[in-house]
Amino acid sequence: AALALPLERVARAKTASDRIAVSKFPKPFTVPFTVPPEAVPTKRSSTTDYYTVSMRSAVTEILPGMKTETWSYDGTFGGPTIRATRGRPAVVRQINELPSVHPRLGYESWTSVHLHGSGSLPEYDGYASDITRSGQYKDYRYPNFQDARTLWYHDHGAHHTAENAYMGLAAMYTMHDELERSLPIPKGRYDVPLLIRDAMFDRDGQLLYDDEGHSGLFGDVILVNGRPWPVMKVERRKYRFRILNCAIARGFRFALSTGDPFVFIGTDAGLMPQPRSATSYRHGMAERYEVVIDFAKYRIGQRVVLKNLSVPNVEDFDTTGDVMAFDVTGDPTDLSGNAIPDLLNPNAPAMDLTAAMAKKTRTFEFIRKNGTWTINGKTWADVIASDYEYVWADPGLGDVEVWEFVNKSGGWFHPVHVHLVDFKVLDRNGRAPSPWELGGKDTVYVGENETVRVAVKFGPHTGRYMIHCHNLVHEDHDMMAQFRVGPPDTEHHPVLADPAKTGPA
Ligand code: C2O
Ligand code: CU
Repeated sequence: AALALPLERVARAKTASDRIAVSKFPKPFTVPFTVPPEAVPTKRSSTTDYYTVSMRSAVTEILPGMKTETWSYDGTFGGPTIRATRGRPAVVRQINELPSVHPRLGYESWTSVHLHGSGSLPEYDGYASDITRSGQYKDYRYPNFQDARTLWYHDHGAHHTAENAYMGLAAMYTMHDELERSLPIPKGRYDVPLLIRDAMFDRDGQLLYDDEGHSGLFGDVILVNGRPWPVMKVERRKYRFRILNCAIARGFRFALSTGDPFVFIGTDAGLMPQPRSATSYRHGMAERYEVVIDFAKYRIGQRVVLKNLSVPNVEDFDTTGDVMAFDVTGDPTDLSGNAIPDLLNPNAPAMDLTAAMAKKTRTFEFIRKNGTWTINGKTWADVIASDYEYVWADPGLGDVEVWEFVNKSGGWFHPVHVHLVDFKVLDRNGRAPSPWELGGKDTVYVGENETVRVAVKFGPHTGRYMIHCHNLVHEDHDMMAQFRVGPPDTEHHPVLADPAKTGPA
């Protein structure tokens, strides 16, 4: 039987007026940049890597001298990164060791872990209602059959995804393959993850949650890999940055203070067919863009700042225009992988799809109705009410379809994420996609009054998968739908909450 999950929050957060004074923030670019730690497998068999991760509460110093409670994977705010090799599956045991109730928000800390960007089977995909309660664990199996790419894992627990991810349950997962290894692009310590988000803090230094009546949360502190406005020392050479917007509701428009372009080499689904460039670009939540910045042209001692040109219309914080700084400290000690070839991945996922291949076109309208965020007028509550059977779409295995995402909600943008698949962005309001979108994607920015068409091929698994807005506040209230690949009697299904399946950790 379906588990009834409450739609309403148990407790409302303190309001934004409880925010800590701006004078307690560090001066921008004084906190040293760090890279998240890497997870170490607990076991490697001849075929599979095994990991054990504990989701737990930890005390982290984010603002100088303040002790902040975070919830994170292995207690590391912004980590640990899991590194996978294409062709070697991984099994990740996720143990929920969180306090059973959030100390300030009062909700029960169930979790579900989604590996965003992975073509996982339904039972390992972090289905929102496949919850793991405090004291339980779940083993997630990741197939790792896809092209090299930047993935991330984050919480997806029904109706509390936003709070859980905000507390820190988000980290990176990178997949590597032969093609990527063979290209002379920056690697090793010149291949750097940037997990970028915002946050706000109360006077005690605790993470403050206020979603403005289920609209979104816009913090006044920008964090990169868990640190406020950090500064990174760089050499005069090319660096590859894997940029993930892991904010729950804030979109960014990134640019460099020098006005120089970013060179895009990767999107959600990995390396693009060819590099593209742009001097600024918009980056919605959950999207990954891999960019190369060449510091060779700058002089030693020069500072290059990563700026955010978009300030949300909800509240004007003048602290969110800066993201981090790069200080050019010297000539390179290593010049390997210091190139950007003209051809990256000629067979980039989904890029061969065309509208003409589509069997069907379906329209998904993202709209707020009576305060609830809906998709074609329905929500995840309709899924629960149908005992998890109701689907918005039922493509056959291997079918190509055009999906059209329509946003008429005034003032809001929706980053639309489709689980399981990679897709190709065909057009936006009839115009060509942006240069940085010319690669395989699994999340697409659907701006105010925009209609975005994507071409998707469904597979390689059958079963039910989620599609939702990646403004996690919208997702929780309740802009989430599902589709089913193949017939209803498919062999693989999402698992629903059943304490018997997990057992005590
Ligand atoms: Cu990144 Cu369904 O989520
Ligand atoms: Cu949305």
